[in-house]
Parts: sequence; C-alpha cells; structure tokens
Amino acid sequence: MGKDEKIEKIRSLNKKIILAPMAGITDGDFCRKFKGLFGIVTIGAYSLDEDTLNASRDIVKRGREEFIYNLEDFGDIIRNEINKAKESDALVSVNVRFKNLDESLERLEIISKHADIIELNCHCRQKEITNLGIGQELLKNKELLKSYLIGVKDLDTPIFLKVRANFVGLYELIKTLNYTKDYFDGIHVDCFNPGKDYADMEALKEISKNFPDKIIIGNNSVNSIEDAKNMLKYADFVSVARCVLRGDVEWIKEFNTMEM
Ligand SMILES: Cc1cc2nc3c(=O)[nH]c(=O)nc-3n(C[C@H](O)[C@H](O)[C@H](O)COP(=O)(O)O)c2cc1C
Repeated sequence: MGKDEKIEKIRSLNKKIILAPMAGITDGDFCRKFKGLFGIVTIGAYSLDEDTLNASRDIVKRGREEFIYNLEDFGDIIRNEINKAKESDALVSVNVRFKNLDESLERLEIISKHADIIELNCHCRQKEITNLGIGQELLKNKELLKSYLIGVKDLDTPIFLKVRANFVGLYELIKTLNYTKDYFDGIHVDCFNPGKDYADMEALKEISKNFPDKIIIGNNSVNSIEDAKNMLKYADFVSVARCVLRGDVEWIKEFNTMEM
C-alpha cells in the first residue's frame, strides 16, 4: 500500500480515540490488551541509533522506563511489536527518536514496511535526549528537523510530527511547521499547558487553522467523553496516555458507540 492509500485509510477511521506513546510502556503487548478500543495505537518511543539508545539507557538508570534492546536485532523486534499491536485491530503508529539519520535509515525503512504511520518525536523533554539536540529541541532547530524529514520523505508511510505546545511560542511553532510542511502528513499536538492540568486549546485551534490539509491529533488531559468532544472541534482525532495507565477506559468504549 502506498503513502496516499495509507493516508486515506487514516482519514476514513471511524474510531477517533488514539493511544498516545509512552516510552517503555506502549509496546505490542500493551496495545493488544485493548482490542477494538482505539483507531490508532502508537508504540514507542523507540530510539533508533546508538547515541539515542545510550540516552535511553541513562534514563533507565535514573528509574524511568524506556525501551532498551540490541540495535542489531531491531528489525525482528519492531516487526514483532507491530504485529502484536495490530492484534488490537487498530492502525499502528511508531514513535521514533534518533540523532543520526544515516544510522537510522535502514531501521526506518523496516518500520515503514510494516507500520501505518511513522511519528517523529519532537516532544521528549528528558535531558538525556534534549542534550542530543533532539526531542522537543527539534522545535528550536528547523534546519535539522527539515533535514530529517527530507531524509525520510521517500518512505511509503505517512509521517507525523509529535510536538509539544508551549515549549517554543505558538508563533514560532507554526513558523517551524510551515517551514517543514511539505515533508509531513500529520501533526500530533500535545497541548501541554505549563502548570495547568487542562489542555491549551488555543494552541490546537491555531495549529489546525494554519494546517487544514494535515491530519491533526489533539492530545493532553483528555479523560472523558466531554473532553474528547471538545478537542475534536479542532482535531481529526484525540489521543490519550495517562488515563489509559489509570485503567480509565470505560468512557472510550461508550464514546465509540456514539454517532459523531
Ligand atoms: C510515562 C510516559 C511516557 C511518555 N513517553 C512518550 C514518548 O516516548 N513519546 C512521546 O511522543 N510522548 C510520550 N509521552 C507523552 C504522551 O504521549 C502524552 O503526550 C502526554 O502524556 C499527555 O497526554 P495525556 O494527558 O493523555 O497523558 C509520555 C507520557 C508518559 C506519561
């Protein structure tokens, strides 16, 4: 299936709730426990090169979860994880981080053959990752971001950016997205609202207004049917992370039965 067909398949999904990525947690086994619940499940983040994987190892040393593996075995591992995630009956997106594109390209090609979306992580704020100039730091370096996106543009899989709002200002974020817009298909927006426990809807509203051709996933603090409906005013889909960890998913089952 080519990229355009994959985009059509995403656009035609009836289920509007997506599982957001959580490093060290959202793998194939995690996803397949939620059969029929999500339109898309996101696995990862997976670190694709030695430097980034070493950063993941350092993160684990201070007690945070990360996916750790032998990079030599990455092809078999990711095929297996994607296949398990597909048992959820959702499309599968793979959230990735890398510093060295050349070293990661072969792994990205394998992901592209098996997954429905590749999601480039411009979101991570763990210092071991940001020290490499990646994760949310990519939002401050539009040239590097663009070079990564140009490097993956020939893959036959839609590319999404997972971005964090309010790391750079909204105007700068939109400018960076505009600068790179020819090379990605969707924007997954964590409407992160510093110091608040609710989403920055204004950020989502502006991003969706500025990028009407892109598939928009809204994210942050969606915990109920009402929250999801609110966010869907400005997004094609909404994603959830922490509420799934809490086991708070009954509302999603009910939401899926509702006429939109
Ligand atoms: C434990 C944990 C790990 C996370 N790991 C990732 C990650 O690897 N990649 C990523 O893009 N976002 C990651 N996130 C962010 C979530 O995908 C999501 O954007 C954030 O939790 C806000 O959504 P929520 O309010 O539904 O939890 C992580 C969040 C948590 C709680």
